[in-house]
Order: sequence, then C-alpha cells, then structure tokens
Amino acid sequence: MKTLFFSILALNLFLYKTAVDAQAVQAPVITGEKVKDTDGNFINAHGAGVLYHNKTYYLFGEIKKGKTWLVPGQSWEDYRVPAGGISCYSSKDFKQWKYEGVALAAVKGQPSHDLDTSKVIERPKVIYNSATKKFVMWMHIDANDYSYSQAGVAVSNNPAGPYTYLKSVRPNGQMSRDMTVFKNDDGKAYLIYSSEDNNTMHVCLLSEDYLAPTTKYERILVGRRREAPGMFKNEGKYYLITSGCTGWSPNAATYAVANSPLGPWKEQGNPCVGPDANTTFQSQSTFVLPLEGKKNAFLFMADRWNKQNLEDSRYSWLPMQVVNGKVFIPWKNNKS
Ligand code: DGJ
Repeated sequence: MKTLFFSILALNLFLYKTAVDAQAVQAPVITGEKVKDTDGNFINAHGAGVLYHNKTYYLFGEIKKGKTWLVPGQSWEDYRVPAGGISCYSSKDFKQWKYEGVALAAVKGQPSHDLDTSKVIERPKVIYNSATKKFVMWMHIDANDYSYSQAGVAVSNNPAGPYTYLKSVRPNGQMSRDMTVFKNDDGKAYLIYSSEDNNTMHVCLLSEDYLAPTTKYERILVGRRREAPGMFKNEGKYYLITSGCTGWSPNAATYAVANSPLGPWKEQGNPCVGPDANTTFQSQSTFVLPLEGKKNAFLFMADRWNKQNLEDSRYSWLPMQVVNGKVFIPWKNNKS
C-alpha cells in the first residue's frame, strides 16, 4: 500500500515537473495586476470568455462599474454592482487589447427587462455558427437574489457586436446560473450550467443554430455543488474545470474528464499546484483557452474578485498544461 502511495506521488511529481518545464508555452501571465487596453484604460471584462475568429481573439466580459452594495435579506454575501452589460476587446497576440466597445448594452429604467441595470448579467460566452454565419452569445441572467436563474442568448453578424438580445430561458424548465458554452469540433455546441439550486451541473445540447437548448441534456457532478465551469478538449478527451460555491470568495478548483461532452464525467483532483492552490491562487475559473499552434497547452482564465469593491476585481491568467491526461496549472509569479 505504502509502495503504491509513493509510486503515485513520484509519478505526479514527475508529471508536474514535466509540466513546469514545458517551455513551449508562451501565454501571457496575469496574477491580479490591472491590465490596460491600447487606449490606456483598464480592461473591464469579468467572468470573461474568448472567441478566436479569423486569427483574432475577442475577449467578452461583464462590465463592473459603480458602487458595490450588499443585497439585504440574503443568507450569503450577495454583493452587487449595477449590471453594466458586456464589453468586447480584440487582440492578435493576446497581449495588446483594443477596446471594441459595449457588445451588449444594459438597459436603464425597465425593471422587467432581463438586461435592466438592476439585474445580474454574468459570464458571457460567444461561439460562431458557421452554417448561419451568426455569432451567438450566451450568458447568465438573474435577479439580485439569484432566484430567476436563467440563461440569456443574444446574436450578432459581427464578432465584436453589437449583439441583439433575444430572450432568456430555463433549459428544459431547469435552473441555470453560472454557465459556459462549448463548441465541439463536430460543430455541435453545448450549454453547461449550475442547476438545481447549484447542487448539480447540467450539460445541454444546443439547437443547430445555437439559439435554443434542446431536450437532450445530462445531469453531471450530481450533488457536488460546482460552479464557474470552463470546458475544453484535448487529445480526444473532454475536460471541465469548476469551482465550489462560496459566493465571491475563492475556493479550490477541481476538474473532471469525459469521453463526450454529455458524459459520463469522472472527477479528478485540483489542477492547481503551488502556493494558494487551495484557493485557485485566490481566484475563480471562468474560461479555458486552447493556445493556438501549441500542443497540450492552454490558458486558464480566472477572476480574482474583490467582493466589497467589485469594479476593482482583477484577473488571473495562467498557462495550463495537460500531461498524460492530467491537468496542471502551476503557479507562476508574473514578477519573477
Ligand atoms: C459566484 C459566481 O461564480 C459569480 O459569477 C457570481 O455569480 C458570484 N457567485 C455571486 O456571488
């Protein structure tokens, strides 16, 4: 038993060292610094997702601006800022970011509208539908107390927008909170969301135009209370990184592996290695970007929330590797 334990430990250390040594990875590293766009303004794109289209990266995120307040009467730290809509930035090299403007604007003074500033508009993710030639944005739409729990969808002819908001839904009548979208290499796309009051995640196949959920969905990570999903594919396997549910406070990430987006999914451990690995380096996952032209190399994108001053929340972008089917996010200090 003891020998087996030490063999597994030695193997993991070897795999980790291989991962750290993988000099091929040239990803930008951000560990909580403020990041400026090419106009010199700070990038305001939280809960972000990235679309890579025609050799350009498009970064979409929540605009967080204004004074943070605590929603009264909640049993958890429900800190909010007015919903600010969705921003878009573009880049050729993932380093220089040009502000493309507001991709999806919030609306003012229409409390029953999904995009009203009094609502929650979070975690936008955009994919391209090559059949309809439309860019499709999915996002989490909610009320201040997170009881609405819907997935919103918007569409545009241009990657940077502006996007036209269509509607929000509860896929198959099920709650949908933290979410992401994954486009497979066969052209099928999936909505992945925290459902059942955050207890269980669902993966739902989207319609061919990507504008609606289908009735084909699976319950995954049942009873595990996971959120902040980021899905990716590597060498025929699918990976899903998630966080636990602790509001704006960081916790340990874990990942799961499957042979198909609909599962079954098998939980693995925490992919983070190094100081603060048990808080995902003080951050929460939002997206995993495959690094173009690199094998087994990804950028792990996360938010370092500042719950009492949400507009001052920061980002964490760290290189991530998959080595022999295992995911590693080694700590990398930007300043060293
Ligand atoms: C954690 C989620 O991941 C965030 O997107 C946000 O909804 C906060 N909870 C709110 O507390």
